[in-house]
Amino acid sequence: MRSAKDFFRPLAVGAPAPPREVPFRPSRMIHFFDPGNERMAAKVPALAPQVDVLLGNLEDAVAADRKEAARAGLVSVARSTDFGATQLWTRINSLDSPWALDDLITLVTEVGDKLDVVMVPKVEGAHDIHYVDRLLAQLEARAGLRRPILVHAILETAAGVAAVEEIAAASPRMQGISLGPADLAASRRMKTTRVGGGHPGYLVREDPQGDAPRVTHQQDLWHYTIARMVDACAAHGILPYYGPFGDIQDVTACEDQFRNAFLLGCVGAWSLHPVQIDIAKRVFSPAPEDVAWARQVIEAMGDGTGTVMIDGKMQDDATYKQCQVVVGLADALAA
Ligand code: GLV
Ligand code: MG
Repeated sequence: MRSAKDFFRPLAVGAPAPPREVPFRPSRMIHFFDPGNERMAAKVPALAPQVDVLLGNLEDAVAADRKEAARAGLVSVARSTDFGATQLWTRINSLDSPWALDDLITLVTEVGDKLDVVMVPKVEGAHDIHYVDRLLAQLEARAGLRRPILVHAILETAAGVAAVEEIAAASPRMQGISLGPADLAASRRMKTTRVGGGHPGYLVREDPQGDAPRVTHQQDLWHYTIARMVDACAAHGILPYYGPFGDIQDVTACEDQFRNAFLLGCVGAWSLHPVQIDIAKRVFSPAPEDVAWARQVIEAMGDGTGTVMIDGKMQDDATYKQCQVVVGLADALAA
């Protein structure tokens, strides 16, 4: 008999083998909105066709005295909106808060049929996912839901990073993991006051070259965590994401951060403002010239074994697989 895993696990793009039971669903941008903000909630129907994922946020950035309004607002938006192919996610409050249980009970009971994914913040180990998994199973059974709601973890504490593999493997409901650079910075006692992105002080200075001014290179604060998260996700067949980039006006740095994450294996990022939607769409869709090159390599490699030279570059079984990842993503996005 097939296990739940066979049915519910989303297919990591480019991953070998298991039959595609769950159709690929693009998630290049997870667009956050505050469902308790009536002006923002009113824009949801027009926004839905422009994004892959709409996420009603109940956690940080929603003040404590507005938690119930946000939850009620999300129920109302979910009931009244036709989301089409766009996924509806929510970010519930953290499991050590007074709101998380009511978030889950209300949302699954009232609009569980509309909800694709529950994003769980500040996940520190498999036990957090098991708790949500069991609650979801009970609530789904009570509500008579036939389609399981998936779970997405935010990696935003030092303990969570240390446990990332067990988090990725914790349940067949696991859809993916996002980097949460703001909370992670605080948890690690980093000396930053930003949401994602780099820092001008985190740099490497080249050795002196005579009297010439010394060249400096800013380093990426998030490389280690993203690489670790990508490995954990790829190993367990779930999807990795860059999280938020808080400097809305700095579209260049936003695009750089998203692109680095894409090149390292992430499939999407959060968009906190409409200006970040197009950045994510552009970055997390493979460039036409890269797809054309990958198709050329695949064509030239025939059965995918051996070597061929194209434009002086050696291609072999491994580059063939890399090219399949690029083409697989492009085809899935075009379908
Ligand atoms: C996101 O939740 C973050 O803390 O960066
Ligand atoms: Mg956070």
